Amino acid sequence: MEKICVIGGGSMGSGIVEVFAKAGYHVIIRDVNQTVIENAIKRIEKNLERQVAKGKLEIKEQNETLARIEGSNEIEILKKCDLVIEAISENIEIKKDIFKFLDENCSSQTILATNTSSLSITELANINKRPEKVIGIHFFNPAPVMKLVEVIKGIHTDPKVKEEIMELAVKLGKTPVEVDDSPGFLVNRMLVPMINEGIGILAEGIASKEDIDTAMKLGANHPIGPLALADLIGNDVCLAIMEVLYKEYGDPKYRAHPLLKKMVRGNLLGRKIGKGFYNYS
Ligand code: CAA
Repeated sequence: MEKICVIGGGSMGSGIVEVFAKAGYHVIIRDVNQTVIENAIKRIEKNLERQVAKGKLEIKEQNETLARIEGSNEIEILKKCDLVIEAISENIEIKKDIFKFLDENCSSQTILATNTSSLSITELANINKRPEKVIGIHFFNPAPVMKLVEVIKGIHTDPKVKEEIMELAVKLGKTPVEVDDSPGFLVNRMLVPMINEGIGILAEGIASKEDIDTAMKLGANHPIGPLALADLIGNDVCLAIMEVLYKEYGDPKYRAHPLLKKMVRGNLLGRKIGKGFYNYS
């Protein structure tokens, strides 16, 4: 694998691009919005500059990494990619449109991957002509820092494709775990209901947001508390994951807390907009 394309220049997309470019791959960022591509590249530049300032990266490596990143919406470029990773919003209909488009415009050898947090890999795979080449590669936020990658097999994913992606994750400096396609996969099925419970504790007035977060940091050794984590992940993403878990399992334990819904309706999405449970402005 040499050439990779990442669809979506949001925080996950740009983090994934940074990971691949640092590991020596030529990466293309694609997004419907040119400004999003430009902002993604700026974000990566800033991250790399910070690493240079801390003495963790040589200037030469920074320049080489940036030279491997290209923003482009050309369709022809897609044909030369060995792997395309979709990292757009958690909406199955939009993702299906993208997978149809990729199936029509990529080489038949290209592996099509999704960074979805919870949606069905099998459902995305089944709308195109190469379901055996469709797989989930789930990075964690912030992608350049977090060591885990969930590699998710759909019902039709070729075991050779799965092996190739497991090896690729190791080349990226990550630790992969293999997961069968199921709602929320492995981490989010445990993590997001825990965050939802933290939101419930806040809504019931049992403790302040600061105390809830301190309790989980000091009592469970989490790096940040559940409400700060909700802001990091994005409250809209947390809600989308809870809704998938609830819809797929039909179990009331996965019901999204009304306060989480209210936060999203009020556009209090977390760090990405500067305000969520905490204020980041
Ligand atoms: N991009 C790149 N690097 C980043 C970064 C970002 N967005 N944010 C922080 N870093 C780096 C910093 O540069 C720093 O690097 P060095 O150690 O090399 O100096 C390191 O991470 C630590 O950062 P800070 O000192 O600024 O802050 P911190 O110690 O509080 O760590 C954190 C920040 C790594 C995000 C930490 O708070 C943490 O681990 N939080 C939990 C993250 C987590 O659980 N993520 C998973 C979310 S679930 C998910 O993503 C799945 C999904 O589908 C929803």
